[in-house]
Amino acid sequence: MAQMFGFSVEATDGSARKGVIRTPRGEIRTPAFMPVGTAATVKAMLPGSVRETGADILLGNTYHLMLRPTAERIARLGGLHRFMNWERPILTDSGGFQVMSLASLRKLTEEGVRFSSHIDGSKHMLSPERSMEIQKLLGSDIVMCFDECPALPATEAEVARSMALSMRWAQRSRDAFGDRPGHALFGIMQGGVTRDLREESAKALTEIGFDGYAVGGLAVGEGQEAMFGVLDYAPGFLPQDKPRYLMGVGKPDDIVGAVERGIDMMDCVLPSRSGRTGQAWTRRGQVNIKNARHQDDPRPLDEDCTCPACRGYSRAYLHHVFKAQEMISGMLLTWHNLHYYQELMQGLRDAIGSGQLAAFVANFHAQRQAGDI
Ligand code: GUN
Ligand code: ZN
Repeated sequence: MAQMFGFSVEATDGSARKGVIRTPRGEIRTPAFMPVGTAATVKAMLPGSVRETGADILLGNTYHLMLRPTAERIARLGGLHRFMNWERPILTDSGGFQVMSLASLRKLTEEGVRFSSHIDGSKHMLSPERSMEIQKLLGSDIVMCFDECPALPATEAEVARSMALSMRWAQRSRDAFGDRPGHALFGIMQGGVTRDLREESAKALTEIGFDGYAVGGLAVGEGQEAMFGVLDYAPGFLPQDKPRYLMGVGKPDDIVGAVERGIDMMDCVLPSRSGRTGQAWTRRGQVNIKNARHQDDPRPLDEDCTCPACRGYSRAYLHHVFKAQEMISGMLLTWHNLHYYQELMQGLRDAIGSGQLAAFVANFHAQRQAGDI
């Protein structure tokens, strides 16, 4: 029988955890950062290169793939892993969040969401049942419940109404997902920045029972302080023995703060997207390669980085290819950013494993303070 889905915590340091998620498609070392492969590609990267940066798992999107090339077509072609040539685990988001930010003419009811495609205006429907069906067609290893993430700012009554709907949809997602050995279904906690609503949401999800639990509804404009405020208590409402996933986060300092507060998984477009807009993330902070001060600089982006961009090229070259709009610009900066993010995750895992997280975090902040990049 295929190996089942499982999670074990190997070490803790304060609230932080180091562990491993086991799936039939391979292990995911946690805390894990998942690069975003929205349209069946991590933009500007070959799958083998993404793996070389240290990624154990990618994120894919129900919303984008159902519209183009469609989940049914991907299923006919052997599933998302085969289609995009990534054989390791894939987590797919359920679509609700992307519908709200990308689609037009949305109509939300108890049943689900009707909407028009942002690509060609064609009409579609997503519901818990349809989202589960699409994620099954894709062959996703970690399936996310269909939820609603309210746009902020919203009144507490609106956040409460939305959370309650998401919890009813979580039950319908659980029922529609059924029993699929080797595949996992994660619930998504909502409740905005209101402690009581977060606790109520966690209780509802825990009663239904999931293979993992996401903290949703954050990084939607509330600011880091408010997000950390929620993360000071929210992970504690969730089962200790299941992975906790913070959706859509974040900048390197968000990631460090979230891991300190007990988060095991994260995803964000930031390292890949900013790689294509000339932004590099390094231990010493952010570098804008567009800046004219780099045009004669023979040094690498980061002297200590072992990625191909830093081993083979000067800042002057990276500046030049960005200005000339050469495709290698996005390729090199994306590789560097993903490498940096994965190195940060390895550093966090090692620090938790040796009980040195506080020192690691202090050094992380000190290096960024030192500046001069
Ligand atoms: N991505 C970022 N935040 C969220 C959320 O609250 N729900 C879902 N489904 N995806 C997200
Ligand atoms: Zn580098």
